[in-house]
Amino acid sequence: MKLGAQGTASQTVTFERMRRRHLPAVMRIEHKAHPKPWSLGVFNNELSQGASRYYVVVRTGGRVAGYGGLMFVADEAHVTNIAIAPSLRRQGLGTLLLAHLAHEGTRRGCVAMTLEVRVGNLGAQALYRNFGFVTAGTRRNYYPETGEDALVMWLYRLGSPEVQARLEELERGR
Ligand SMILES: CC(C)(COP(=O)(O)OP(=O)(O)OC[C@H]1O[C@@H](n2cnc3c(N)ncnc32)[C@H](O)[C@@H]1OP(=O)(O)O)[C@@H](O)C(=O)NCCC(=O)NCCS
Repeated sequence: MKLGAQGTASQTVTFERMRRRHLPAVMRIEHKAHPKPWSLGVFNNELSQGASRYYVVVRTGGRVAGYGGLMFVADEAHVTNIAIAPSLRRQGLGTLLLAHLAHEGTRRGCVAMTLEVRVGNLGAQALYRNFGFVTAGTRRNYYPETGEDALVMWLYRLGSPEVQARLEELERGR
């Protein structure tokens, strides 16, 4: 089942600014999502960075289903983390979450979004390509724990009518 931006009658999808009270649920997902999960200290530190960061949780069926965050550097929005609980993947939640982050970047006047992704993380790369992210390079040994390289991906012209139309399309589930 694919969820549109409004979810379904029984499964409304909502976004909430991430607060410390969300961190137990966030940490449970984080540990299942990444080979080298962020510590609680890293999340606390990110949440204390004020306007240079934007973290949200996505809720469905009354529970925290995932989360994501942006770091703003000049007029660029860097996706720092994004994850959906394993049992709730492939339902469109990651798409709605990334679209939400893209809207926030647009609202703040960013002209591009960027992120690093493991070369082996083909699922996430497919998600990003759906949005129009393109690969701009590779960072060798970016993940020292596994020695894996990172692809650097960019979504350019964030505020353009084309990108905004694509976001709307993705949010409608097409
Ligand atoms: C990446 C992640 C956030 C995607 O969340 P999600 O809710 O499953 O994403 P969606 O359901 O919106 O997927 C949208 C599309 O992305 C692509 N996609 C997502 N996961 C995929 C996978 N595992 N394999 C192949 N394609 C995938 C598909 O095109 C999918 O559309 P489809 O289901 O109609 O085929 C989720 O898999 C996750 O939390 N992974 C672990 C953490 C992680 O890797 N984060 C990214 C670090 S850079």
